[in-house]
Amino acid sequence: EYRNASAAELDLRIRAAKHALGDRLVILGHFYQRDEVVKYADFVGDSFQLANAAKTRPDAEYIVFCGVHFMAETADMLSKPEQSVVLPNLAAGCSMADMADLDSVQDCWEELMDLYGNEPDADGRAPVIPVTYMNSSAALKAFCGRNGGIVCTSSNAAQVLEWAFARGQRVLFFPDQHLGRNTAKAMGIPLEQMPVWQPEQKLGGNTEAAMRDAKVILWHGYCSVHKRFTVEQIRHARLRHPGVRVLVHPECPMEVVDAADEYGSTDYIKRRIEGAEPGGVFAIGTEINLVQRLADQHPEHTIVCLDSIICPCSTMYRIHPSYLAWVLESLDRGEIVNQISVADDVAEPARVALERMLSVKP
Ligand code: 13P
Ligand code: SF4
Repeated sequence: EYRNASAAELDLRIRAAKHALGDRLVILGHFYQRDEVVKYADFVGDSFQLANAAKTRPDAEYIVFCGVHFMAETADMLSKPEQSVVLPNLAAGCSMADMADLDSVQDCWEELMDLYGNEPDADGRAPVIPVTYMNSSAALKAFCGRNGGIVCTSSNAAQVLEWAFARGQRVLFFPDQHLGRNTAKAMGIPLEQMPVWQPEQKLGGNTEAAMRDAKVILWHGYCSVHKRFTVEQIRHARLRHPGVRVLVHPECPMEVVDAADEYGSTDYIKRRIEGAEPGGVFAIGTEINLVQRLADQHPEHTIVCLDSIICPCSTMYRIHPSYLAWVLESLDRGEIVNQISVADDVAEPARVALERMLSVKP
């Protein structure tokens, strides 16, 4: 029924259900969502802003999260118990988040404890502090909460690493090696002190000497969307658009971040464009839906995507208006579908790690 409905019909049905639900409903949308979905969102933002947004509408009975699974889990953990979080399509996951599972991280942790012991140093700093990127399962956030660790997003990773180094001698950073490497490098940590941990290999595939010197142990994960950006594309953009400003997301590989003019979270990129003098020329290395929206909203600038082959985040793209229409009409009938609910024994320690992040000054 929904699949065969026209865009115009879906639009009418979404608007009608949204209107009927009124203040009982809040719709959150990530910047990477397609325009046909973003237009219905009450809040649009990056993953940090959306984690906060989940808390700002305690009156709303239903939080419909147009984003991916880990974001909906976070909204569930930060909202009130009586609120229900709904993910319009349960197949909207994140391939990067799936690259770190609790068992492998726990195995890694045990090896690190064998290597470094678990006694604090003379300054009271723990041997290792686990830091998980927001793009991870609730189980991994809970792992961090239980082990003195914290969550970060791409907009606060540097401040979170400062927080972690004030409390620990080293950091285990997962799942995104690129965000970890780019952030630690900007803090002056040498690359030799950032071994990559490959699960199922003794010491993550590193020598004992390398592990002894390690400051940031990087999980091997990556984002398949941001991994596509290359230094060659930047070179090409500079040739084609003299004077271009290249802005990239820190999930891009280090060489790309180094070759760019600036890097930052999706919100940083957006604010940078909004604050620029008219006539700016920008080449952007992040998900195409955001780049295209910025180009449409800012005709006073020339805005291009670094990658000429249009490649959206395939899982973000799984939120289609037909799913939104279905979940909203179901809610309007009093039926909660596709609810994301994190069990208390996971949510409680995960919340500890999330609240630590929220208390870190941006
Ligand atoms: P931010 O919204 O934190 O910039 O993250 C980008 C992303 O990959 C979300 O999945
Ligand atoms: Fe995951 Fe990358 Fe998609 Fe973000 S853009 S949801 S990190 S796959």
